[in-house]
Amino acid sequence: MGRLKVGVLISGRGSNMAALAEACSAPDFPAEIALVLSDIPGAGGLAVAEGRGLATATVDRKAYPGKAAFEAAMDEALHAAGVELVCLAGFMRVLSADFVGRWQDRILNIHPSLLPAFPGLHTHERALAAGVRLAGCTVHIVRPVVDDGPILVQAAVPVLDGDDAASLAARILVEEHRCYPLALRWVAEGRVRIENGRVRIDGTAAAADTIRNPL
Ligand code: GRF
Repeated sequence: MGRLKVGVLISGRGSNMAALAEACSAPDFPAEIALVLSDIPGAGGLAVAEGRGLATATVDRKAYPGKAAFEAAMDEALHAAGVELVCLAGFMRVLSADFVGRWQDRILNIHPSLLPAFPGLHTHERALAAGVRLAGCTVHIVRPVVDDGPILVQAAVPVLDGDDAASLAARILVEEHRCYPLALRWVAEGRVRIENGRVRIDGTAAAADTIRNPL
């Protein structure tokens, strides 16, 4: 069976993209990165992707009159590269319901909180302000509402005395880099089903693995 062709959408440094690329570089991994697409010209992750020999594209939001035209250009680039699954990896644009619908159940996202807690921006600051003892990250299937959708994998990390947003983010990022390849593997293996808005992973061992490192 061919490997699933993935398009990774980035806006920044691309460390999650690099983690996915690293996983995909294993010969037995069931997915490959067909395109790394940035909405920001010169985003740091583009150079990282090029350094790994990956195809890259930039679709600059500012070059388009509106969101529909911008998303149509992204669609075109993704389809031209043969992309079958989209992974959002620090992509800082909200996708329209139209775009999400065109890629129904074929867009994944990673967010640095234990969703449904703290969706949206300034996640770490809000987790610290709330005084939570556990923080973490979530990989989920994208729905039109930001940071909403069936949950594939979560990892928890402790919040430590003296943490600031940067130290907490760094601790969570380590887990992000483990969770995203794991989720992608399951999707690419065709083991993910959505039932009543919840994810089921075929294979019991994998189901137990959807919680990672609770402390
Ligand atoms: C990550 O924390 C991700 O969860 C969030 O944005 C950040 C992107 O970091 N959506 P990177 O570009 O993958 O390094």
